[in-house]
Amino acid sequence: RTRSIIRGVGSYLPEKVLTNADLEKIVDTSDEWIQQRVGIKQRYIAAEGQFTSDLAVGAARQALDDAGLTPDDIDLIVVATTTPDYTFPAAATLVQMKLGMHHGMAFDIQAVCSGFVYAVATADSYMKNGLGNRALVIGAETFSRLLDWTDRSTCVLFGDGAGAVVMEKVELGDDEPDRGVLSNALRSDGHHWDKLYVDGGPSSTGTTGHVHMQGPEVFRHAVGKITDVVYAALEQAGYTTDDLDWFVPHQANRRIIDGAGAKLGLPPEKVVITVDRHANTSAASVPLALSAAVADGRIKRGDLVMLEAMGGGFTWGASLIRW
Ligand code: ACO
Repeated sequence: RTRSIIRGVGSYLPEKVLTNADLEKIVDTSDEWIQQRVGIKQRYIAAEGQFTSDLAVGAARQALDDAGLTPDDIDLIVVATTTPDYTFPAAATLVQMKLGMHHGMAFDIQAVCSGFVYAVATADSYMKNGLGNRALVIGAETFSRLLDWTDRSTCVLFGDGAGAVVMEKVELGDDEPDRGVLSNALRSDGHHWDKLYVDGGPSSTGTTGHVHMQGPEVFRHAVGKITDVVYAALEQAGYTTDDLDWFVPHQANRRIIDGAGAKLGLPPEKVVITVDRHANTSAASVPLALSAAVADGRIKRGDLVMLEAMGGGFTWGASLIRW
């Protein structure tokens, strides 16, 4: 069996913390409203001049250290981001440059909050098809730069950060226990595009634009889509929800996570939550949550881990990994 294993994990958060109390001074909101509706207490905000590729490099270096590898060992870089430094080139090529690499291939994936799951599935498929042996897969966002800081319905929800994994192609012997990515399920439906979108872009307005969201509509779709794709990934690999050790969902909103966990019948102690500290960091949220749970010793070798995300497009997806 050819498998892509996760060999290292890393994360990077900017220094600046923005609390709900800080937001109370900017828009008409309250700590109580934010905590009650979405379960967020604080978020991190990138400094002026600190770009998405900088956050990505911070997470990548930690993941490489964790794997005991250097940039020389990497031949594929995939960055999931909605907030690249420039319209082009891809943030991934800037990460490649900042890591001092001249070899290999690098490109971005745009699937908004589902980007990291799409990136894991892409790196897994590339490596299984002979395109690369070791991949840096990064979710990185400076989402704060897409926010309208006068719109209380969106600006309280998001934050900046980056998370990364090093994936490695291995050949497992017949008697070796299974490891690595076991299945990926990816979905999208562009008919929902205007329920969550940014009203700018190079081909439409020539501006960067701001996030617009029909919050209740997103909420209405989220739990069903998340659970469908989780079941699809489990079924593909021949497992059920009872087999899961850890559920690492996209961290958009505590109520969506709790709703999905309950519908899947997962005990709350198996669900990794970081939305209270990080808010919604879009493509960075899943690898940030994953690295938190690996760093504190919850996720360990042999555990069955489900990654899941849903976001703008809509896009949604899940990856089942034997750690
Ligand atoms: N502070 C105080 N009041 C607020 C705030 C705020 N930050 N934002 C909105 N309100 C007010 C509204 O103006 C409204 O007031 P009104 O009744 O006087 O008009 C009231 O709160 C209720 O507004 P709703 O939008 O109906 O609130 P709802 O209970 O639906 O909660 C929320 C809004 C939290 C956005 C909810 O719809 C939700 O969780 N949606 C999912 C969206 C999400 O998580 N998006 C993340 C990105 S998508 C993803 O990654 C999956």
